[in-house]
Amino acid sequence: MTHNSTLPHIVILTGAGVSAESGIPTFRGPGGLWEGRDITELATPQAFRAQPHVVQRFYNERRQILLTKQPNAAHAAIARLQKEYSGRITLISQNIDDLHERGGSPEVWHIHGELLKSRCTHCGAVHECRDDLDTASACPACHSTGKLRPHVVWFGETPLFLEELDARTRDATLFAAIGTSGLVYPAANFVHIARSRDARCIEFNLESSDGVFDEFIPGPATQTVTAWVDSLLGHTH
Ligand code: APR
Repeated sequence: MTHNSTLPHIVILTGAGVSAESGIPTFRGPGGLWEGRDITELATPQAFRAQPHVVQRFYNERRQILLTKQPNAAHAAIARLQKEYSGRITLISQNIDDLHERGGSPEVWHIHGELLKSRCTHCGAVHECRDDLDTASACPACHSTGKLRPHVVWFGETPLFLEELDARTRDATLFAAIGTSGLVYPAANFVHIARSRDARCIEFNLESSDGVFDEFIPGPATQTVTAWVDSLLGHTH
């Protein structure tokens, strides 16, 4: 697909806040997933080695909840922008849900992996996964059992696609962070890369991360992102 290079190259980074209005809990803040839970017991390779059934159950529950949820107007607006904007656009998501895809996004860079995929710790194969994973689960490729894990990036592991996304963010002229607390690196570094290249940086959130962005657009993403996309595409939908 050829892009109109005279238009801004937009890089969008989404976090849990873009899925909040779909009923997917965020991590931090009231009712967040990490509230009352110990991350080191649920989302680290060490936890998976020590108590795989506890970790599998945590992700099995989240997977089954995700399958009952629907994308919201913010996902739909971002997808519309990806399809109708004639400049270059990159969508990076910290989220492991598939709501961007189900909202119509043609391309999503999931730097923290995907909840609806499994990865075999024996052969490395990645497959679609909508069922519970447990010690009896067999890898569709090598058929070994008890070797499947969620294809997600745990704390202490390296996020995916960083080299490609660093390069794309360096090339951005407009950077939008939507629904992220900006507390987890290296995802939280993308705005600093964009700023270093004089990109305009906009934050869509309920509360502002003071001082990092050029512009803060307060409010729920279903409203603010829809209005932003309408303004970029020059029409209401
Ligand atoms: N509209 C816009 N923003 C919202 C909304 C909404 N409706 N609801 C919540 N938010 C904002 C919150 O104000 C908060 O800043 O979304 C952000 C969610 O922050 P976190 O819960 O920290 O989620 P996130 O930033 O995605 O976390 C990053 O941390 O635990 C890891 O791997 C996990 O990918 C996750 C990473």
